[in-house]
Amino acid sequence: MCGIIGYTGILDAKKVLTEGLQELEYRGYDSAGIAYFMDNTIKTIKQEGKVSCLCESVKETAAEDVTTCGIGHTRWATHGGVSTTNSHPHTFGKVTLIHNGIIENYKSLEEELQQKGMEPVSQTDSEIAAMVINDCYEGNPVKAIKAAVAKLEGAYAFCIMFEDFPGVIYAIRAGSPLVATHTEKGTIIASDMVALLKYSKNYFVLPEHHIARLTVDDITITNMEHQVVEPKMLHVNWDVASARKGGYDYFMLKEIHEQPEALKNTIGPRMVNDLPDFSEDHIPDSLFTDINRVIITACGTAMHAGLVGKNMIESLTRIPVTVDIASEFRYQNPILDKHTLIITISQSGETADTLAALRLAKENGSKTLSIVNVKGSSIARESDYVLYTHAGPEIAVASTKAYTVQLAAMYLFAFRFAYAKGLLSEEDTKKYMRKLENTIQTVEELLSYDEEVKPIGKKLKKTKDLFFIGRGLDYALASEGSIKLKEISYIHSEVYAAGELKHGTISLITDNVPVIALATQANVYAKMISNIREVRSRGAKVILITNADAHVDASLCDYHIMLPEMDDAFTPFGAAIILQYIAYYAAVSRGLNVDQPRNLAKSVTVE
Ligand code: G6P
Repeated sequence: MCGIIGYTGILDAKKVLTEGLQELEYRGYDSAGIAYFMDNTIKTIKQEGKVSCLCESVKETAAEDVTTCGIGHTRWATHGGVSTTNSHPHTFGKVTLIHNGIIENYKSLEEELQQKGMEPVSQTDSEIAAMVINDCYEGNPVKAIKAAVAKLEGAYAFCIMFEDFPGVIYAIRAGSPLVATHTEKGTIIASDMVALLKYSKNYFVLPEHHIARLTVDDITITNMEHQVVEPKMLHVNWDVASARKGGYDYFMLKEIHEQPEALKNTIGPRMVNDLPDFSEDHIPDSLFTDINRVIITACGTAMHAGLVGKNMIESLTRIPVTVDIASEFRYQNPILDKHTLIITISQSGETADTLAALRLAKENGSKTLSIVNVKGSSIARESDYVLYTHAGPEIAVASTKAYTVQLAAMYLFAFRFAYAKGLLSEEDTKKYMRKLENTIQTVEELLSYDEEVKPIGKKLKKTKDLFFIGRGLDYALASEGSIKLKEISYIHSEVYAAGELKHGTISLITDNVPVIALATQANVYAKMISNIREVRSRGAKVILITNADAHVDASLCDYHIMLPEMDDAFTPFGAAIILQYIAYYAAVSRGLNVDQPRNLAKSVTVE
């Protein structure tokens, strides 16, 4: 949800900012802009469209400008449509800023400012923030920021330049993320570590409600009482190449191919003597013996990983697990107590609703564990326990590798839970662990199924509506397959528990409507076949995915993808690759930008 970056140093700031915005573009890409100091004035260039359009504008209008300090923004519109005027940076008086988040009380603030004779030029909440800061400014930036944020309600990460302080960037955040680093070539701050990677692997998360002051030499952080605070330094072992396309047409395809490595990195360190081991994660077994209920809450793909995880946790521990969409959970007055464990799952660790759900659980005395990919992110920091996934940076909006490692983390959790409670013997736990480890090899093998899946993608070129059906684990997985297809190919799809289809939706199955049927579970295989026959006899084109040992009658489907030999409980790891490929090749055949689907953004830091 909007990417922001600020740099002050000795390098060409326009280059640092535009390159950084390209790294951050996955966060929003409907318009972009930069502002920079030219001697004692601030110059702004904004452009509707992708960051590449901004780069062209910068080349055309400001090729000669030499600057070493500036801020940049790539937008995902919330308040105010997509236009150059509404794009950031916004300037009012002496203040120029970029913003990620939503100022919820901007309308009442706008009215106050109007009464004082000030008029915004855009429709954005962000410009109102610039106006408020400017209104509070009497020559001292820190005082102005402090006074202004006291009036703001909502979430924000700001980078702010004051015309009177050339070469200096101020930043503050509440809710929305900001990470920063100091290098020999200057100081840099951004929404995400991927924009800093080129300069350093060491960084810190700007604490909320603290003001950072960036100069060429240093970053000073002060709290609201004006005391200097030392940030906690973090380190990532991601390299610059991990955030590049590396020869693939799209990040999504690259990330699909990174799944074996991501799984290895997530499972490997937690497999000690063939047993699940969380000692490095500092998760004690007492956690498992203290709880009698689990609630998994997350958004989007991460929530779908929870649906698969529920299945495994319940079947091994017989402890009830519910899975809730975070934006619903927070408002439904959930029943929480100290024996309830809330698991939040999040790739970014910054999703606003998931974070709010976590906070609610903590307020109500529940224990919290998060499964998070980004180190030091808000959800990771605020959880009692963290199980980091090690997918490396995920850039494509459509999540792929983050999903499979979330599944792996859920399975590891279920195995240790059952083992710690004495419900799974050492020998059986080891068997499960080995099967989990074997999925790495199977996923590797499945990567070569692209040739088999491509024709299916092509067949979906003109498709308008499509249905996914499955039972049990397959139903949980189909939810992910459906969202993947929708988000990047724009094909309308719905997912149905196969047995439920006949209670209404089967009326939509007519000649040539594609149905993707997942039938990897032996215990419901016969029932699935009956359901497939039901849609087939109404004219559906069936794309069937089964486990290796399934005997499939050729009249049952138009395409049949058979997974390599896998234990039924582990088929989501394999079938996920096929579903990712189907979505990918459908989008490619429709000529769409797979990595930047319309209206979406990867990190959703607004509610
Ligand atoms: C967005 C992304 C999804 C992601 C969801 C949750 O909608 O497009 O891919 O699953 O947010 O994000 P999180 O970072 O919390 O996993």
